[in-house]
Amino acid sequence: MSNNAVGTESFATEEKREVGKKLRWAIVGCGGISTTHLDAIKQIPEIEVVAGCDIKPDRLKLMNEKYGIQATYEKWDDLLAEIKPDVVDVCTPNGVHMPAAVAALNAGCNVITEKPMAMSPAECQMMVDAAKKNGKLLCTGFQYRYHPSCEMFKRAMAAGDIGDILFVKCRALRRRGIPNWGVFGQKELQGGGPMIDIGVHVMESAHYCMGEPKPVSASGNCWTYIGDKPSEVTSMWPNWDWKTFTVEDLAIGQIRFDTGALMQVEASFSAHIEKDVWNFEIMGTKGGFNWETSTLFTDHAGTMINSKAAFLPGTQFNSLFVAKLKNFADACLTGSPLRAPGESGMAVQKMIDGIYRSAAAGKEVTID
Ligand SMILES: NC(=O)c1ccc[n+]([C@@H]2O[C@H](COP(=O)([O-])OP(=O)(O)OC[C@H]3O[C@@H](n4cnc5c(N)ncnc54)[C@H](O)[C@@H]3O)[C@@H](O)[C@H]2O)c1
Repeated sequence: MSNNAVGTESFATEEKREVGKKLRWAIVGCGGISTTHLDAIKQIPEIEVVAGCDIKPDRLKLMNEKYGIQATYEKWDDLLAEIKPDVVDVCTPNGVHMPAAVAALNAGCNVITEKPMAMSPAECQMMVDAAKKNGKLLCTGFQYRYHPSCEMFKRAMAAGDIGDILFVKCRALRRRGIPNWGVFGQKELQGGGPMIDIGVHVMESAHYCMGEPKPVSASGNCWTYIGDKPSEVTSMWPNWDWKTFTVEDLAIGQIRFDTGALMQVEASFSAHIEKDVWNFEIMGTKGGFNWETSTLFTDHAGTMINSKAAFLPGTQFNSLFVAKLKNFADACLTGSPLRAPGESGMAVQKMIDGIYRSAAAGKEVTID
């Protein structure tokens, strides 16, 4: 199993802060997901939220009134200059991740961005370069790699139960779930549709479990057939903005790795299937794994065995956010390793970008 493609080193070269001190934390982008961060932060005493930034005054009002954030700004440059936070937590739409992260890194802050890391590998490179130049930490806010099912798989892999990984099937499929808030249907602000928005979650956790091998080529296709039209069909998030919808409804892709392994990814906001799926399955030479059911498939003493975890702690959505923010906070305070450094975000971004490029070109494309 190759682990050469993705470095896991920390960029931080500064002297570490004394443990016991609080990180002065600022949030840029105070929309939906920022409130999940704020709820998780309540369980992390090392973090003190000192400021928020959003272009919408009503979101700043909410931050102030509901979450007690005193210092609020409409421009991150003003926040960075006046507050000088230790950390900037970027929770804006994807198209704003790169400029906000680079500004914060250049201002001397450690940065965590929501997923996906950015819109393109070129943007990710600018962020990684800014982190290196300033000697700061850059973390990608992937949370599913903290799911205990991933830990279970990693342990089984280390114990030799899986052998060599051959094929990984990733699925993030909604029967009908086009976000009716934010800018999720606008390609120029998000970089794409369900592949970059939800496929990314399953891909990142599967890629992490695989040991982050180097992606070398991609093929895929994308189709738009529902999101760009008005609809009277009853669904959980009706009345999305179909007039500005420029992303795909369904994307299917395949990634080839330098190990010879293949990953198939299926992502959709509008798949004609029986029920929603959020899962990856791994097939190896000796055993296999189902992430959703936390089940290992092996041969033992002449019998094919399915071993399901009897108990796994911390599987709730909020627990995953606590784990990801705490991993980053610990890295900032003590220099402990980041589980999702910028390089991990970059590798996943290259895979997504490869699928989109292949879909546009109508043929397999190489990934550098
Ligand atoms: N990890 C997860 O499970 C998860 C879940 C949902 C969303 N996300 C990610 O979080 C990000 C935001 O998603 P959301 O659902 O919170 O969207 P949202 O639209 O609810 O929130 C985004 C906020 O950013 C603000 N914003 C836009 N441009 C800005 C700028 N230039 N400066 C400051 N603020 C700006 C918007 O006004 C809005 O309040 C996306 O990248 C998305 O992929 C992650």
